[in-house]
Amino acid sequence: MDWGMKNRISRIIKKDGHTVMLAVDHGYFMGPTTGLEKLDDIVKPLLPHADVLMPTRGALRNYIPPDTDIPICLRVSGGTSILNKTNLLHEGIIVSMEDALRLNVSAVAFSILVGQPFERDTLLAFTKIIDEANRFGIPVLAVTAVGRGLGKDAKYLSLASRMAAELGASIVKTYYCEDFEKVVETCPVPIVIAGGKKIPEKDALQMAYDALQAGAIGVDMGRNIFQSSNPVAMIKAVKTIVHKNVTPKEAYELFKSSKK
Ligand code: R5P
Repeated sequence: MDWGMKNRISRIIKKDGHTVMLAVDHGYFMGPTTGLEKLDDIVKPLLPHADVLMPTRGALRNYIPPDTDIPICLRVSGGTSILNKTNLLHEGIIVSMEDALRLNVSAVAFSILVGQPFERDTLLAFTKIIDEANRFGIPVLAVTAVGRGLGKDAKYLSLASRMAAELGASIVKTYYCEDFEKVVETCPVPIVIAGGKKIPEKDALQMAYDALQAGAIGVDMGRNIFQSSNPVAMIKAVKTIVHKNVTPKEAYELFKSSKK
């Protein structure tokens, strides 16, 4: 593996082999999502606690000062909005590698959707991004999703995750599910979990813990952090699970005490 690629991966995955990625890219298809209406206000206090920030290029240029010391995993797929339900995640390339380099990113993120009639479009665009990113030593994080009605279970998430790895992803982001070990064991590249829709803090911490126990290397979490009643307390609690291996109970106690 090239030095540049290794160097960038080491900025995403920390020395202990784990990472806390903060996903704030939702605006590319959800617009002003609850909690991110004023993205800079919410993100600024979270930055010291995140290992990596995952924004869109527009959010990066408009809300994040260029002297911010945090590795960037840039969202480079999109093209549909939440209003277009039948085509949701029918995504293509929305950022050139040249612009990603100009933004000095440490990785790029691209969504693939497996199990929809348009899966081929997302998979071929994904491999195009892989080829372009490889030319410049930029790791690609595959955000995996499965078609509506297929269920976010180990059968389909391992299919999508393994496909992403075989197509060339350096890191896979997927959802936590029952029997998550099967997803991890059959995927040859590191896995991080998405948080998904907002759930109670206690449950989100348990999910992060269970995912780590099953072999995930960390989280790429958005709504369960920035929509929390106390986002800073929440990211600090998530971080102790990911990097300090504390129990969900201890992490929740930390959340409650930092909240005070
Ligand atoms: C999904 O396509 C985007 O990358 C989301 O921004 C990301 O998955 C969100 O994380 P969460 O589900 O934790 O809000």
